[in-house]
Amino acid sequence: VSVSAAFAHIDEASSDRPFVIAQLGQSLDGRIATLTGHSRYINRNAALDHLHKIRAHVDAVIVGIGTVIADDPLLNVRRVIGENPARVVIDPSGRMPLSSRLLYEDGARRIIIRGKSSPLPNGVEEVILPVENGMINPNFIINALFSLGLAKFLVEGGAKTISQFISHNAVDRLHVLVAPMIIGSGKPGIELPPISVVDDALRPLTEVTILSDGDVLFDCNLRSLTKGVSDV
Ligand SMILES: NC(=O)c1ccc[n+]([C@@H]2O[C@H](COP(=O)([O-])OP(=O)(O)OC[C@H]3O[C@@H](n4cnc5c(N)ncnc54)[C@H](OP(=O)(O)O)[C@@H]3O)[C@@H](O)[C@H]2O)c1
Repeated sequence: VSVSAAFAHIDEASSDRPFVIAQLGQSLDGRIATLTGHSRYINRNAALDHLHKIRAHVDAVIVGIGTVIADDPLLNVRRVIGENPARVVIDPSGRMPLSSRLLYEDGARRIIIRGKSSPLPNGVEEVILPVENGMINPNFIINALFSLGLAKFLVEGGAKTISQFISHNAVDRLHVLVAPMIIGSGKPGIELPPISVVDDALRPLTEVTILSDGDVLFDCNLRSLTKGVSDV
């Protein structure tokens, strides 16, 4: 499978309804960072280029506040040619440092999803949504952003944010980029409510591509989930 097929899925999605892609870079043992939160870089250049290409194909990139605090990411497109997407942070209790680099004015929209209003730098938009048990329903987030004129979304991390989106069935495609590296301890990747038998595991239809420097892309169609079906 050619890696360009992965972008065709995004480009061909209708803008009449939201389309959500999530990406996670992880080690062979399913870790996204060390216990101290260090994660730069697990994946190699081709996977990082891939991430920047996805950014260039969507209207908005969404991250959890944990990633902003750990990494202070820019979330722009710089490894490939393309337009910067809007940058969205989910920050239910207002922990966002106002000096965060993703708040810098560079022409892209900057949107903070929160439980209650508080001051933000000029030009930064605020979306207030109900917080229940510390959680904002990911589908409410997507619908609110869609009503602001954004249709294609990349949920870029971290693992907690992606896991919540998956468990609320809010993700259309999941790109897992696996680096042949064993960290052996650290922060886990996707975590969903426990199941007792593997028959209940999610088994999406998946296209696999080996990237040029050896990381492997698993492009999973989460709208094709089969549960309890074995093809072995
Ligand atoms: N390998 C990768 O692809 C990748 C990508 C990005 C980040 N990372 C790494 O991941 C680590 C951070 O990830 P993380 O899992 O700890 O944190 P995270 O997912 O970035 O952020 C989690 C926090 O965001 C808020 N949040 C997210 N979704 C929410 C929702 N639906 N409702 C309410 N609040 C929501 C909550 O904030 P409150 O805590 O304020 O309630 C939650 O605790 C860092 O070490 C970073 O380097 C790795």
